[in-house]
Amino acid sequence: MSFITRRKALELAAPAHGLKKSLGWPHLVALGVGAIIGTGIYTLTGVAAGLAGPAVIISFAVAGLVCACAALCYAEMASLTPQAGSAYTYSYVALGEGVAWIIGWALILEYTLVCSAVSVGWSGYASGLIRDAGWGVPDALLAGGLIDVPAIFIALVVTGVLLAGTHESATVNFVLVIVKLVALAAFVALTLPAFDAANFEPFAPFGFGAHEVDGHKVGVMGAAAIIFFAFYGFDAISTAAEEAKDPKRDLTIGIVGSMAICTLIYMVVAAAALGAVPFDLFSKSPEPLAFVLRELGQPGAAAVIAGAAVVAMPTVIMVFMFGQSRVFFAMARDGLLPRRLAAIDRRGVPVAVTVLTGVMSAIIAGVMPLDEIAALANAGTLAAFIATACAVMVLRRRAPDLERPFATPLVWVVAPAAVAGCLYLFTSLSAKTIVFFFVWSAIGVAAYLAYGRSRSALAG
Ligand code: ALA
Repeated sequence: MSFITRRKALELAAPAHGLKKSLGWPHLVALGVGAIIGTGIYTLTGVAAGLAGPAVIISFAVAGLVCACAALCYAEMASLTPQAGSAYTYSYVALGEGVAWIIGWALILEYTLVCSAVSVGWSGYASGLIRDAGWGVPDALLAGGLIDVPAIFIALVVTGVLLAGTHESATVNFVLVIVKLVALAAFVALTLPAFDAANFEPFAPFGFGAHEVDGHKVGVMGAAAIIFFAFYGFDAISTAAEEAKDPKRDLTIGIVGSMAICTLIYMVVAAAALGAVPFDLFSKSPEPLAFVLRELGQPGAAAVIAGAAVVAMPTVIMVFMFGQSRVFFAMARDGLLPRRLAAIDRRGVPVAVTVLTGVMSAIIAGVMPLDEIAALANAGTLAAFIATACAVMVLRRRAPDLERPFATPLVWVVAPAAVAGCLYLFTSLSAKTIVFFFVWSAIGVAAYLAYGRSRSALAG
């Protein structure tokens, strides 16, 4: 059984050539905020408010805190192993091949589902605009209908853009971050005059601890387990560790800063929505922020917010489709997945994995409800966060003298808090989600035993 514990050497994980150290903390914060703000705040705010009531504000705080602890662990591992593969690679150097495979397998699930979830969120707003335009598209073919055609459309468009060899551009990202932030600020400014504190009573109608009602986990923690979705994407920052000018300072500010900014923005936006319209009204809308503005008699502003979401959200899909190809690439290079799948063409585009991810995301986005997709994506992410926090602790014990360009502050508080918080959120997911996650992992174990175990680059 030694194959389960064989580990990749840290030296092997280090890249041969260093990248230019050109990023300061403002770049890193922009990178983080750009990858983080998406369907979570624009759409899942409604779903989560339906599960927790006005106390969803507390759910945002809990999920943000857990993510901040995990993000600090990611930064340490990223500065030690600045190589493609994220939590998969971190697990491989610290915890062994068995855990690494399970985490890589979970990341494949997560990245594909995030692309689907953000496509469905995008479709919510796009469908609103299509209805407004009066094009006569039947409801069955829009968000919430039988087949979500706009969601399929956007997933395939982003796939096409990536296949054309487009890279993330710092300038485009910066502009889109501004678009997202201005839209959210405008939302708050427009809804505040209608603020009614009576909408916050009763504050937590479904209680604190998660409990199952009709297949959904309700309560503040049930909502936290869903809204957790809104916070991840900071991987984008930790993978830039190598390019940070002063990793210790810039990464801490970049990660803690973007988490703090997002948590604050989310809580303010959620409070503004809750204060303006009773939560049970907007929680069922596929475009809750636009819905709130329409309820307040501001259809023009609703269209502008929807437009901003439609323009800016596809970058989140792009970041995660990119992430998927990096994880695949790392796993195939290690021999655990067929190399053909991760092959890159002459322009450096991983065609097979991009097409596979794009088509799978499009199919799932077309037929599955958003809350279920997001919950399952969260399960995979929580597993990856737990593994990364464990990897940090294991390496601190095993290699205490290793030079750490970035060291997690208060590591023996932060890393255990990340593990405990993620476990608690995991158990707050619905039973159906947890069962599906374990079925997916079991399929992964079977695939590993049949393929990767003997083909691993570390197999003697
Ligand atoms: N945090 C990202 C979003 O909310 C995944 O869309």
